[in-house]
Amino acid sequence: MEKISACITATGHYLPEDILSNKDLEKMVDTNDEWITTRTGIKERRILKKEGEGSSYLGIKACENLIEKSGLDPKEVDMVIVATATPDMPVASTAAYVASEIGATNAFSFDLQSACSSFLYGMSTAASYIESGRYKKILLVGADKMSSIIDYTDRTTCIIFGDAAGCVLFEPNHEGLGLQDEYLRTDGVGRNFLKIDAGGSILPTSKETVENNQHYVFQDGKNVFKFAVSNMADVCSKIMERNNLSGDDVDWLVPHQANKRIVDATARRMNLSEEKVLMNIERYGNTTSATLPLLLTDFEHKLKKGDNLVFAAFGGGFSWGSIYLKWAYNS
Ligand code: UT7
Repeated sequence: MEKISACITATGHYLPEDILSNKDLEKMVDTNDEWITTRTGIKERRILKKEGEGSSYLGIKACENLIEKSGLDPKEVDMVIVATATPDMPVASTAAYVASEIGATNAFSFDLQSACSSFLYGMSTAASYIESGRYKKILLVGADKMSSIIDYTDRTTCIIFGDAAGCVLFEPNHEGLGLQDEYLRTDGVGRNFLKIDAGGSILPTSKETVENNQHYVFQDGKNVFKFAVSNMADVCSKIMERNNLSGDDVDWLVPHQANKRIVDATARRMNLSEEKVLMNIERYGNTTSATLPLLLTDFEHKLKKGDNLVFAAFGGGFSWGSIYLKWAYNS
């Protein structure tokens, strides 16, 4: 039987209008533009301020953008996966609501959560369903309203994160394009370094947990940084080795946007020149599940059919990995 591969055939994104700049943050916490820029590469991020709207709002807007750009009939979509660390609600999946709102009435849907690796793992999941031959059109959405879980009096986290959504359509391909290989890993040691203590089954929300700010993200940045630098570079060099790719063979690195220094270290290890590294952290900060699809929409005009893309991510859990994908179209 002819081998089916899973390729990305369309992209979409949504960015809320409100901008939170480094200068704005200088007025909120003890920080400065110079520190944030040199330590992270971030200049500004977007914040969803619309009352009563969560990650589904961002995801729906991103899907609408994809539908408008590609002419996709949402009724033909078989499955909607929403990768998110900030679902609308703890129970009642965000994906079910997104699918209904965009008119994907023949699809089934579910959320996928693995912190900043959610979208990368979603790519693996969507591709596997396509490769099985059972489904033909899968919408993978990465949507996070990080501002809903960030303490804007904590300078160690509030300078990093932003709100956004991006999405891609996965479809079968018979030319050998699309996802080629993946190298995905987790290590539970990480949950001490990047977490939200309260609101889960170990420590349900109470008056005390709220008073102690335990419903916000805690990050031991220095330790996460150490793990991120070595592991992201490691999986990228492993996937290159396994697929006989040199730095010259890789056209684009598509890295999770957590810190410019982590990305630079990964690119150095891969022997990649700077112009092959997709970056937009300066404009959006770390948007968790949305970073990878946002890079694809921002740089779609540069991607050519047959280009070799290496995706990489690192996040809470710890969770990390790399995916090698051949781009399937010229835009
Ligand atoms: O996407 C999910 C995975 N997450 C990541 O990959 C994030 C990984 N970690 C990082 O990106 C970096 O560790 C941070 C950007 C979070 C922090 O940068 P750093 O270079 O590791 O700084 P640090 O935590 O070692 O802090 C250095 C100094 C400290 O002061 P002292 O102790 O040297 O006097 C901090 O108190 O900088 C201070 N500091 C700040 N100063 C100004 C911490 N945050 C700030 C701030 N503004 N916002």
